[in-house]
Amino acid sequence: MTERHFIPKPYSANVESGTFSWSSPSNIALVKYWGKKKNQIPENPSISFTLNQCKTITKLSFSKKDLSTALKATDDFSFEVFLDGQKSDAFKPKIQTFFERVEVYLPFLKSYHFKIETENTFPHSSGIASSASGMSALALCLMSVEQRLLGGVEASGIEMTDDYFNKKASFLARLGSGSACRSLEGPLVVWGEHGSVEGSSDLFGVKYPYKVHDHFKNYQDTILLVDKGEKQVSSTVGHNLMHGHPFAQERFKQANKNISEIKSILETGDLDAFVKLVESEALTLHAMMMTSMPYFILMKPNTLQIINKIWAYRNETGSKVCFTLDAGANVHVLYPENEAENVLKFIKNELVAYCQNGHYICDVIGLGAENIL
Ligand code: DP6
Repeated sequence: MTERHFIPKPYSANVESGTFSWSSPSNIALVKYWGKKKNQIPENPSISFTLNQCKTITKLSFSKKDLSTALKATDDFSFEVFLDGQKSDAFKPKIQTFFERVEVYLPFLKSYHFKIETENTFPHSSGIASSASGMSALALCLMSVEQRLLGGVEASGIEMTDDYFNKKASFLARLGSGSACRSLEGPLVVWGEHGSVEGSSDLFGVKYPYKVHDHFKNYQDTILLVDKGEKQVSSTVGHNLMHGHPFAQERFKQANKNISEIKSILETGDLDAFVKLVESEALTLHAMMMTSMPYFILMKPNTLQIINKIWAYRNETGSKVCFTLDAGANVHVLYPENEAENVLKFIKNELVAYCQNGHYICDVIGLGAENIL
């Protein structure tokens, strides 16, 4: 498939207005995406667990622009954004850029006025990025509009199978934020072409197509909110630092190798190997940021305290609990469902003290986005 597959045929239906709502979750990468080429093409493949509780719910209302007024269909995008019921201009530039990037694939964008009402199930100031859940929810709403314009599910024919709908929604979400393309399905999604994952593509995320051992069923993710402030380094800046980075090529090779390795780990249920691979990925991501120019330390002292406590707990108990990190100080604590009771006790007794205001979020891997009728 190439980008051209996502340019639609002419729309057949005349639609004045409508509303669609989708909820879409966040995801946590096991093998990380860090470094991209032009047009949001990743430098290496990544794989993530889809989350269940941390999600964005977006309602998109659209109405045809009045062509007789000064605001002609060709003029510009027309949209307003509401976050938790409050008009919010803070997201407008990001959505404007997104619309510009996807207009060629959604040629109706300038013909309508859009009202985007969005809310997150996790607190704003949690330090949890909402771009993956937010961009995927918006992409799905826009795909629902396109489906209507093509004449509904039946009339839109072969081009609008569920598979095409999901692929194009993921393709669009990627153009909003790379990791967003991994949020539509679950429990595991691969983004980025890799020889050992059939169907994998740089253009969109695909549901992991192979057998997964029962050990990974309902895998738990408790997110420890160490630092709820604004991200110190935006992902755009971070990805850019991989250009000309002295270790970048080796890192991209390593990520490819780790995708091959995690495939057999997921099949055999080898949790010791899983722990090693996932923690090494997290620390490598941070090592890339420490060794770029300019350089950044995105962990906080409490991030390290938590990591050391997790290692000590694992040594003492033989637990398979492990951690991963995004490009920030918060810690995702990952563990199998059968350890949930014990690990949660450990988290409450020993780790919560390192969280800002004692805040943490209990999540579990989930199945992806949902259309809300
Ligand atoms: C560290 O998807 O936020 O979370 O494509 O610039 O929007 P943009 O970047 P973004 O990068 C996420 C990077 C990461 C690792 C990952 O999720 O794979």
